Amino acid sequence: MTGQLAGQVAIITGASRGIGRAIALLFAREGADIAFCHLHDAEGAAEVAAKVEALGRRAFHAAVDVAELPALRAFIAGAEAALGPCDVLVNNAGLNLRGAIETITEEMFDRVMSVHVRASFFAAQAVWPGMAARGRGRIITTASQLAFKGAPNIVPYCTAKAALVGMTRALAREGAPKGILVNAIAPGPVVSDLTAQLGPDWAERTGATLPLGRVGQPEEIAAAALLLASSPGGDFFVGATLSPNGGDVMH
Ligand SMILES: NC(=O)c1ccc[n+]([C@@H]2O[C@H](COP(=O)([O-])OP(=O)(O)OC[C@H]3O[C@@H](n4cnc5c(N)ncnc54)[C@H](O)[C@@H]3O)[C@@H](O)[C@H]2O)c1
Repeated sequence: MTGQLAGQVAIITGASRGIGRAIALLFAREGADIAFCHLHDAEGAAEVAAKVEALGRRAFHAAVDVAELPALRAFIAGAEAALGPCDVLVNNAGLNLRGAIETITEEMFDRVMSVHVRASFFAAQAVWPGMAARGRGRIITTASQLAFKGAPNIVPYCTAKAALVGMTRALAREGAPKGILVNAIAPGPVVSDLTAQLGPDWAERTGATLPLGRVGQPEEIAAAALLLASSPGGDFFVGATLSPNGGDVMH
């Protein structure tokens, strides 16, 4: 099917590469105009914007650290001024700061919580009144299967991702009566720049531990995001956490 998001506006945080990029390109192929931000990746952002425009859609992008709330709010206001009211918000920007518990500083912990949890909440808050007034909106947040599974040496990341699952459920209860459907995706291990930090044999090593025998591709997560963003596919999901994860965690 094509044109599932025809005429809609999607705002995606962190879409210059990886999963966010795949979501941006899939949503554009389905007819959405795309606003996105990135951190220190002007080259990747320009390439994604060019691809969106080559698909016949409009693109708006900005270099914004989502942890800086005035800049995040200005990005969302600028995106809506340029493209129109936000139909779909995808909270995707993320990073990971690793270390044994003894080495995690207050700054590291706060940074991971700010980029994932604070930014996702305040981005949702920024689009909320408009969505409520129009009686329709979708908010999709990228959690992780590590919210459920846990992992050593990334306690702040697992904490933040679990918080996002709880936040999604609370927002979903508040949003559903207003027509705002809030859901999350908890991907399993996916090939991206984030996981490339883990070494050249990471994909093979990690894939071997999964029931499916391989890690995922960003496009496989984007497909879940499209399901949640589209209608009728996403119409009955409220506070759900979809788990495209190769069987890493089953629930
Ligand atoms: N790759 C995986 O295995 C995996 C698994 C589960 C969840 N996730 C989550 O998926 C999301 C995307 O991950 P990815 O693997 O595509 O990562 P990636 O590093 O390839 O891309 C991250 C994107 O977010 C942007 N970004 C990072 N920090 C930002 C900030 N502070 N402000 C604005 N933009 C920022 C980057 O510029 C980039 O566009 C993250 O939330 C991540 O935690 C990834």
